[in-house]
Amino acid sequence: MSKQVPRILLTGGAGYIGSHTFVKLRQAGIEPVILDNFANSHPAVIERLARITGAPVCLERGDVLDRAFVEDVLRRHAPAGVIHLAGDKAVGESVAHPLKYFRGNIAGAISLLEAMEAVYLPVGPLGPPTLVFSSTATVYGDAGTGPIAEDFPRRHSNPYGHTKLVIEDMLEAVQAARPEWRIGVLRYFNPVGAHPSALIGEDPTGTPNNLMPYLTQVAIGRRSHLRIFGGDYPTPDGTGVRDYIHIEDLADGHVAALRTLQRTGESFTVNLGTGRGYSVLEVVNAFVDATGCPVPYRIVERRPGDVAQCYADPSRAMQLLGWEAKRTLEQMCADAWRWQSRNPQGYASGMASAASSQATEKENGLLVIG
Ligand SMILES: NC(=O)c1ccc[n+]([C@@H]2O[C@H](COP(=O)([O-])OP(=O)(O)OC[C@H]3O[C@@H](n4cnc5c(N)ncnc54)[C@H](O)[C@@H]3O)[C@@H](O)[C@H]2O)c1
Repeated sequence: MSKQVPRILLTGGAGYIGSHTFVKLRQAGIEPVILDNFANSHPAVIERLARITGAPVCLERGDVLDRAFVEDVLRRHAPAGVIHLAGDKAVGESVAHPLKYFRGNIAGAISLLEAMEAVYLPVGPLGPPTLVFSSTATVYGDAGTGPIAEDFPRRHSNPYGHTKLVIEDMLEAVQAARPEWRIGVLRYFNPVGAHPSALIGEDPTGTPNNLMPYLTQVAIGRRSHLRIFGGDYPTPDGTGVRDYIHIEDLADGHVAALRTLQRTGESFTVNLGTGRGYSVLEVVNAFVDATGCPVPYRIVERRPGDVAQCYADPSRAMQLLGWEAKRTLEQMCADAWRWQSRNPQGYASGMASAASSQATEKENGLLVIG
């Protein structure tokens, strides 16, 4: 039987993947401590997480680049492991501001790794340093046709992907130097959807870079139409094919990864995807079927750096973690839409309604805080 993990540090825990992972960890009997500076998330998520899980949330507000702060957090909470999600993730922004990405992602990872080595090595009562790292399918670049396995060559086509590749290499070197490390590298494909409660979901700032949030913003009327980049790819309908995975399945994958590291003590790298590719037009049609919302779209020029198709061979994750994605494209669309339709402006809508309900409560002589 796997050992129960008492506490875990979750960097970037207020973000899209982090918030859903928080819920799954807690449901699995693991207590996550969130470390986040809200650079790309809304503080309102914390209260929503407390509502979903029925207990207060432990938050350490600060920057993962601040090594002394991270070390202090580790010493005070003594977590049995760390899930590292904090970082910058927009490909386009990384092309325009590469140094922001090299510094934010690579220096952030170095800061965390140094703090962990200071606290966990030599191995003492806290156990060996244990880390789950969020990598990406972007490290495969253009892998051609067919499912992508973990031993495929890696290459980068933008600074964001480059930072993930460098961090993967860094983790390998750290592991080689100190075999006590237990490291799980997760290469995510395309997470979409939201928690079924619609209390948490993806809330991009500015123009969404990914298909699903763009699509839901068109459906809610925030944008006039969807632009589909490229209709002449060598795919069945000419639009790009990707492996979309429900965020709930992806979050489950983190719990499975942590448990596997604890149980086996062996490091690994695995894909987290469904193994099934869908074209942009298939996603649009599935969304219209699942929600009944019309989605006007236009097919425009290809976007530089995009590949024709990219989908996972997820068999290693099944073999090592006993994990596989279960949720369908229809569920991904329905859950993404429930989140968007109940939160038309993302977390900002919640703040507006919370402010107005507080005002009403105040008028009634009742002010409820927290
Ligand atoms: N969402 C995707 O499609 C996807 C795909 C592959 C990999 N990833 C990786 O997964 C991780 C999480 O992605 P996400 O979609 O949840 O992103 P997100 O932006 O929603 O979440 C990242 C969180 O990290 C926080 N953060 C950023 N820099 C920080 C810093 N220096 N110190 C403390 N907190 C900081 C942000 O405030 C945010 O809450 C990222 O590393 C990303 O590269 C995401």
